[in-house]
Amino acid sequence: MYIVFEGIDGAGKSTQIQMLGQWLEDNGFEVETLVEPTDSQVGKLIRKMLQRPDAKTDEIQNILALLFAADRLCIMDKLEDESKIIISDRSFISSLAYQNNPEWVEVLNKHAKKPDLLLLLDLDVKTSVARTSGEDTFENEEFLANVKENYLKIAKDYEHKIIDANNGVNKVSSDIKKAVAPYLGLCPDCIL
Ligand code: TYD
Repeated sequence: MYIVFEGIDGAGKSTQIQMLGQWLEDNGFEVETLVEPTDSQVGKLIRKMLQRPDAKTDEIQNILALLFAADRLCIMDKLEDESKIIISDRSFISSLAYQNNPEWVEVLNKHAKKPDLLLLLDLDVKTSVARTSGEDTFENEEFLANVKENYLKIAKDYEHKIIDANNGVNKVSSDIKKAVAPYLGLCPDCIL
């Protein structure tokens, strides 16, 4: 099973992935977690480019869309391993939600693996800005409000669950487990 976590910056994806992964392992599943951008050379270049003051211009966005798609190729073989549950922190769906040019992004990611389950951690934009440093070019309120709206639209195209990420860590974690349980033959009512 390929489970993808998406959500605006500060939504708590990495914490929740760790908690879900641990719970699945405790229930006897083999789990592999992935993060996009990856730690490949392409991923490192992406992180550098995201820091540029002109990161949101169409030119840089087009380059970033290509780099994100190339970076994704580095992990494609891992996604084919059906013996494990793969949990990914972001995917091509981030490119659709964040980059300026959705048509171009769709073409570039035509062959990207679609999630079996998309977990969208839905967080208020003001909370996102408060939780993140605010220094990153990608972390201003108007921009994040647009990304959040994109996410809610895009999610409808995939098997998905929207999780209220404004709650405390443990409540969010139990909502996620309840959402995932039926897909793996686990009992959602047994989760506290
Ligand atoms: P991430 O590592 O999740 O953020 P953080 O540095 O807060 O941990 O991702 C870095 C940024 O890259 C994030 O703002 C979202 C953006 N991004 C895209 O714009 N397109 C993409 O395809 C992906 C995977 C990330």
